[in-house]
Amino acid sequence: MRPADVLWNAAPGALKPVEGEVNVFCASLDVSPNRLEELVQPLSDDEWQRAGRFHLERDRQRFLAGRGTLREILGMLLKVKSASFVFSNGEFGKPKIAAPVAAHSLHFNLAHSDTIAVYATAQHALGVDVERIRAMGETEQIASRFFSPREVRCLLALPAEQRREAFFNCWTRKEAYLKAIGLGLDDCLDQIEVSLAPGEAAELLGVPNDSRPWLLRSLIPAAEFVGALAIQQEASRVNCWKWNGPP
Ligand SMILES: CC(C)(COP(=O)(O)OP(=O)(O)OC[C@H]1O[C@@H](n2cnc3c(N)ncnc32)[C@H](O)[C@@H]1OP(=O)(O)O)[C@@H](O)C(=O)NCCC(=O)NCCS
Repeated sequence: MRPADVLWNAAPGALKPVEGEVNVFCASLDVSPNRLEELVQPLSDDEWQRAGRFHLERDRQRFLAGRGTLREILGMLLKVKSASFVFSNGEFGKPKIAAPVAAHSLHFNLAHSDTIAVYATAQHALGVDVERIRAMGETEQIASRFFSPREVRCLLALPAEQRREAFFNCWTRKEAYLKAIGLGLDDCLDQIEVSLAPGEAAELLGVPNDSRPWLLRSLIPAAEFVGALAIQQEASRVNCWKWNGPP
């Protein structure tokens, strides 16, 4: 078992955005009916409309819990009411704070997988991704389509029992970087090279046409999950917290 609980303590009450610091929060998306009721209070019409598009009630509730938690965390950090946030999207869908104006300088990004969501906040651009480590058919075919030839060689050189985690290390690191630059997944995944072997430090080994100094960090928000954070070099102190509601 990997030491997820050791690394992520409950978020303290007095957190605020600090230059050079990244706060990462992990929250459960499976919450009690009472907690969900509390979380949905500040949601916007747009968020309710998006929730209405899910086919499964379980997915709808997880989406609502995720958006409510985002507002709760941002409200706690910026000391504003969680209902007062208005979000706008970049060209490829990356959300940012549009209002209140005083909150503009806080960057955030989030990702969800199965029962959990991970949120990252800082005063610099950043991207985060998380995936549950799970069995997938045709892992090698997917890797050869989306990973670079060096990454595929590295994956196949690992003992079979390490490949699943290595695959998701690679996937989340690439996605965190693409989310940091605001693109999301497109057909350049194989041009971004990252480290992937379990136990090896997360490293960005190569990116096309980007001279900015990005750093990658690996995240272990819960047992069976792996994640990655892409941040600018100026924001290199990373605090990881569990979020169960306002402290
Ligand atoms: C961003 C993207 C990678 C998310 O993938 P995913 O695995 O389904 O979802 P994740 O859980 O990792 O992240 C979802 C969150 O990422 C954020 N997000 C959405 N688009 C984003 C983007 N382009 N960059 C950064 N973050 C983004 C949102 O906050 C979203 O949460 P929400 O659904 O509550 O609003 C995927 O939606 C994508 O590739 N989008 C861009 C598509 C596109 O237009 N590409 C064209 C490039 S040429």
